[in-house]
Amino acid sequence: MSILAIDAGTTGVTAVVVTPDGRIQAKGYQEFRQHFPQPGWVEHSAEEIWQATLEATREVLTQVDAGALTAVGITNQRETIVLWDRETLGSPRRAIVWQDRRTADICERLRAEGREERVAELTGLRLDPYFSGTKLTWLAENEPHTWALVESGRYAVGTVDSYLIARMTRGTWHVTDVSNACRTLLFDLEAGDWSDELCDLFGVPRDALPDLVPNWGEVAPTDPKSFLGLSLPIAGIAGDQQSALYGQTCFEEGESKCTYGTGSFILTNTGSQVVRSDAGLLSTAAWRSPDGEMTYALEGAIFVTGAAVQWLRDGLQIVGNAAETAAIASTVEDTDGVVFVPALTGLGAPHWDPHARGTIVGITRGTTRAHLVRATLEGIAFEVRDVLETLPELTTLRVDGGAAENDFLCQLQADQVGRAVERPEIVETTALGAAFLAGLGTGVWSSTDELRQTWALDRRFEPQGDRAALDASYARWGRAVERSKGWAD
Ligand code: G3P
Repeated sequence: MSILAIDAGTTGVTAVVVTPDGRIQAKGYQEFRQHFPQPGWVEHSAEEIWQATLEATREVLTQVDAGALTAVGITNQRETIVLWDRETLGSPRRAIVWQDRRTADICERLRAEGREERVAELTGLRLDPYFSGTKLTWLAENEPHTWALVESGRYAVGTVDSYLIARMTRGTWHVTDVSNACRTLLFDLEAGDWSDELCDLFGVPRDALPDLVPNWGEVAPTDPKSFLGLSLPIAGIAGDQQSALYGQTCFEEGESKCTYGTGSFILTNTGSQVVRSDAGLLSTAAWRSPDGEMTYALEGAIFVTGAAVQWLRDGLQIVGNAAETAAIASTVEDTDGVVFVPALTGLGAPHWDPHARGTIVGITRGTTRAHLVRATLEGIAFEVRDVLETLPELTTLRVDGGAAENDFLCQLQADQVGRAVERPEIVETTALGAAFLAGLGTGVWSSTDELRQTWALDRRFEPQGDRAALDASYARWGRAVERSKGWAD
């Protein structure tokens, strides 16, 4: 009666097995390569994502009895767009990742044509390279041979969940859910369906898109020959941020969470209503029940938080791993005036500038590695504060994701936002959400009340520190953000 949940994130795939009491019994993880063909471009090999999925799953299968598994839940990095051959399941090109900025010009062109208002009205989103729609327009305009096969019906188009389901079912199923569909710019949020008007605008044939299925309930069986001998119903699907909202058991209107992953994403459940923001937040689908009931959310999407720590490790090579950043940052009392705006792939909420780039200001001859590491963690906390400033009614912030294990960051976050930060015992909430959905879809759990009882607090961080000093440092951050804007051509 356990659930296998696959979390296909931006930098790696996590597989976990969740038991009926909501505990993680086994875990596997496999990182995959990031491709940066040009400044501002980010691509993934779909085949490598699939191989990482198999590897992470193999790892968990060495720890549990496969016979005890009831269902599979899938959650994934959103907006990233994958093409694959419906027959061979091979991809003709690498996936264009949500962080990729190559379509900034297409967004500007559409804006100049006066399209943004209508796009925002239908989708709850905005014209930004973040979302899938303009990535597909770019493919049509720049890779016409490939695109001709999308139009002929040979190549399927989908988000990562959709691609993984195709691989797990040997190409039999081409499906997605509303939480992924609503991030493509091709989905009518109020109608809860693909929009012909938007497909026309972005030049995407509707037939190339996946069918929409509910977020829980049996969707398709995995093909044992394709998926490590496993024959299990795929019974839960959600984009990773909506999945984390579910995993944090934020089922009621007004409940919110912040997930620290590659980026950080603050979502507030808005119930059955599409709530619109004029402060740079997105309106998004959270999930849809098998009887068609939609739940929506407001989202503050921050593109680079954990990825900035990854850059310290892999790009600058000044830390060995993410966990040691807390100890290094604690060796100094402050950043000595250094501010790091981690706009490495532009700025998302609430600033929305695809031309912004990472900016470090205030370096002097006295600046050390510790100052830079501390400025990176502070930068993450400031980015989250930028979003929370637009959500004043939120009193407590539930956090999760890998970086939520960092006590130093959680305390910094509570201090900066002046609100309590609550960390659950399980911070692997994204995968947990997918497991909850799949378990609800197959009767392992019978209600959200039952799921709510599995949530347990690990630690609550109360805001501390001198408010005036904290606000002064936040004001200095604001000045640095202005310097990061409009940098790239
Ligand atoms: O919208 C992008 C988001 O889905 C990526 O999440 O966890 O890989 O940072 P993550």
